[in-house]
Amino acid sequence: MGWGSVMLLLAVALVCQRANSIGANWGTQASHPLPPDIVVRMLIDNGIQKVKLFDAEYDTLRALGKSRIEVMVGIPNEMLSTLASSLKAAEKWVAKNVSTHISTDNVNIRYVAVGNEPFLSTYNGSYLSTTLPALRNIQIAIIKAGLQNQVKVTCPLNADVYESSTTFPSGGDFRANIRDLMIAIVKFLSENGSPFTVNIYPFISLYNDANFPVDYAFFDGNSQPMNDGGTFYYNVFDANYDTLVHALDKNGFGNMPIIIGEIGWPTDGDKNANVEYARKFNQGFMVHISGGKGTPRRPGPIDAYLFSLIDEDAKSVQPGYFERHWGIFTFDGLPKYALNLGTTNTGALIQAKGVRYLQQKWCVMKPNVRLDDPQVAPSVSYACSLGDCTSLGVGTSCGNLDLRENISYAFNSYYQINDQLDTACKFPNISEVTKTNPSTGTCRFPIMIEPYYGGAARERRFFFPLLMAAAIALSIF
Ligand SMILES: *[C@@H]1O[C@H](CO)[C@@H](O)[C@H](O)[C@H]1NC(C)=O
Ligand SMILES: *[C@@H]1O[C@H](CO)[C@@H](O)[C@H](O)[C@H]1NC(C)=O
Ligand SMILES: *[C@@H]1O[C@H](CO)[C@@H](O)[C@H](O)[C@H]1NC(C)=O
Ligand SMILES: *[C@@H]1O[C@H](CO)[C@@H](O)[C@H](O)[C@H]1NC(C)=O
Repeated sequence: MGWGSVMLLLAVALVCQRANSIGANWGTQASHPLPPDIVVRMLIDNGIQKVKLFDAEYDTLRALGKSRIEVMVGIPNEMLSTLASSLKAAEKWVAKNVSTHISTDNVNIRYVAVGNEPFLSTYNGSYLSTTLPALRNIQIAIIKAGLQNQVKVTCPLNADVYESSTTFPSGGDFRANIRDLMIAIVKFLSENGSPFTVNIYPFISLYNDANFPVDYAFFDGNSQPMNDGGTFYYNVFDANYDTLVHALDKNGFGNMPIIIGEIGWPTDGDKNANVEYARKFNQGFMVHISGGKGTPRRPGPIDAYLFSLIDEDAKSVQPGYFERHWGIFTFDGLPKYALNLGTTNTGALIQAKGVRYLQQKWCVMKPNVRLDDPQVAPSVSYACSLGDCTSLGVGTSCGNLDLRENISYAFNSYYQINDQLDTACKFPNISEVTKTNPSTGTCRFPIMIEPYYGGAARERRFFFPLLMAAAIALSIF
């Protein structure tokens, strides 16, 4: 066998490996995040070989060390201005949050995501002038650290940075008001061998537009196709992706690699956010990309990170109640539905192991209290403002509760988020703690997991009982 065929085999092997490997977004905006070691074990058990993070939490990165999982580590938007104005700050960031983890913890860091959807219109242009300079400084810092071959910079952008003048993909170009900036960013990425990272959300298309054809959001090919000058589109994902391909092509970057930074479907908090649709979308997407077929304009493997791994109950609900329910796993690492990731996992997702729960008890409304008790309304609004009531409401998992159960749900959420503190179930004479699980049908009244204190605090927690034991022993003698 000649070198040519060896190289060819290697290339084929690489392509196959890439086509089979799906990534996941691992966010930690939760009142009770799972301990990083447990999440890393869960990733490995499910054959997920790539993660995308939204910042550079020390414990999270350390837990990923030795796992061989590829990591895209994120820089929050709030840091962009500092990094844009100071190369020193960028060098410090890279030294602390990349170099150290690679050299001492063996973390397989492959990308730095500079900012997260910084050009969203909700940010009022706050990051328009800092994103590219921050990208530049981080790139210089990576080169200075000698990591430029292993670590690439990128900037996850929302799909709203491009648009089509014709509604068809072939009309794709960058959004008119940021077009020059986008071309400068793409040029910079291209010069540094970096990919374009885009987040694509068919769910949001459906959420924002009551007339959006539901089938076009999914991959079953049941919808009326869109005919773009003889190229047929059977799902909005392909059409959206190809709008970007056209935009890149039109501006001279037709070969720029694309990463799907986020793609997924939420399971709760809206009438279109449910387990059935989420499974249909995510499984459909996995099948869609599994053959490495690509899209009409960009055949080949698609590199993607599911959004997301785990539910996050502390995310802002400003986009909608669904925002806390994107996980393929619940907050405590339970699979929400069967999903074949095309990895070692064949159908059933594998739940997190070693999760430690608080006690089997719940806070509910006292049975004899009248629904019109004047304490009820203010108590519920207080509980919901600090707890999580996003699973209540029309078409949600707890949307069928009666009013009394509804009130109990709010009380329990507050109680669990406050670690089952006695004082957190003292709504004035109207609440009580029960050991009977109030969950019913699709509505789960959760029990919280033990709070995670992080590496340093864990040591404190470990030493404190030892000190206590020592003190007791000393006082006995
Ligand atoms: C490293 O990342 C963390 C988390 O994003 C951040 O708080 C910290 O400031 C960074 N360190 C440096 C030296 O920039
Ligand atoms: C953007 O502008 C709106 C209206 O002027 C304001 O309410 C909002 O707080 C601003 N958002 C940011 C992130 O600056
Ligand atoms: C339960 O609470 C939700 C959210 O507060 C509300 O939309 C729903 O109508 C309530 N259900 C009943 C039966 O009152
Ligand atoms: C709760 O009940 C007790 C005894 O029935 C009563 O004395 C107290 O005033 C009540 N508190 C509130 C806030 O209603």
